[in-house]
Amino acid sequence: MVKIITTIAELKNVLEDHRSEGKKIGLVPTMGALHEGHASLVRRSVAENEITVVSDFVNPTQFNDKNDLQNYPRTMEADCTLLSREGADYVFAPSVEEMYPEPDTRVFDFTPLDKVMEGPNRPGHFNGVAQIVSKLFYAVEPDRAYFGEKDFQQLAIIRMMTEQLNLNIEIIGCPIVREEDGMALSSRNMLLSKEERKTAVNISQTLFKSRIFASSNSLIDTKQFVINSINEIDGLEVEYYEIVDGNTLQPIEKWEDSEYIVGCITVHCGRVRLIDNIKYK
Ligand code: PAF
Repeated sequence: MVKIITTIAELKNVLEDHRSEGKKIGLVPTMGALHEGHASLVRRSVAENEITVVSDFVNPTQFNDKNDLQNYPRTMEADCTLLSREGADYVFAPSVEEMYPEPDTRVFDFTPLDKVMEGPNRPGHFNGVAQIVSKLFYAVEPDRAYFGEKDFQQLAIIRMMTEQLNLNIEIIGCPIVREEDGMALSSRNMLLSKEERKTAVNISQTLFKSRIFASSNSLIDTKQFVINSINEIDGLEVEYYEIVDGNTLQPIEKWEDSEYIVGCITVHCGRVRLIDNIKYK
């Protein structure tokens, strides 16, 4: 059974004991509402470390929309069942007061990574992510931390933050886990109605088709193909689609401009905001 811990003091205490026995610690930061995507991160951490801590905390500072924060799914009991099944040792589920006894006034700068895509579209979001992830890193002091590649920009920013703060933590990105029909797993999928779920699959399907389209078309035309194909579908609206260099996250204009190219998308399906990405090369 996974053990629930709610305070930083207790967490530090138990982890210090493990560390003194030379055990490696893996951290999987989450906001709960766990699904098979999270399970894959936990499995990887359990395989690579003696101790796995999963944080389960809906972080208010990364939400720039109050309704979004209020509606975010919370499924603690089911989360613990999944974590016990996957062999996690501890779930760290603190209160907001525990993580933010004082308002966090730290301002991070991740130029140029945070100046594109989610950055301008969700002001303050990555600053909030950096605040909570750095607090979790200080509380757990993990050897390794695991993040999904679905949040492609977040992963790049966390890598930069870890370097900026000189933290000796290996950041491990894990592949997107998809439903059988291709839909990327996300806690937000729980918020979709049956009808919306059927419509939403067109996001990943279009991204897959765009890889074929890309083999005989320009980058600019491929970008337009994705945006037009999705916007044509009733119930979907593209917020942005950018084809970027996978390291700098800066938009590029030609396939020859980089050796590592990723397309990142955000789409509104009803009131649910969904993100996905696809690697072109
Ligand atoms: O990806 C998430 O679920 C969150 O942004 C994270 C990394 C757990 C920070 O709250």
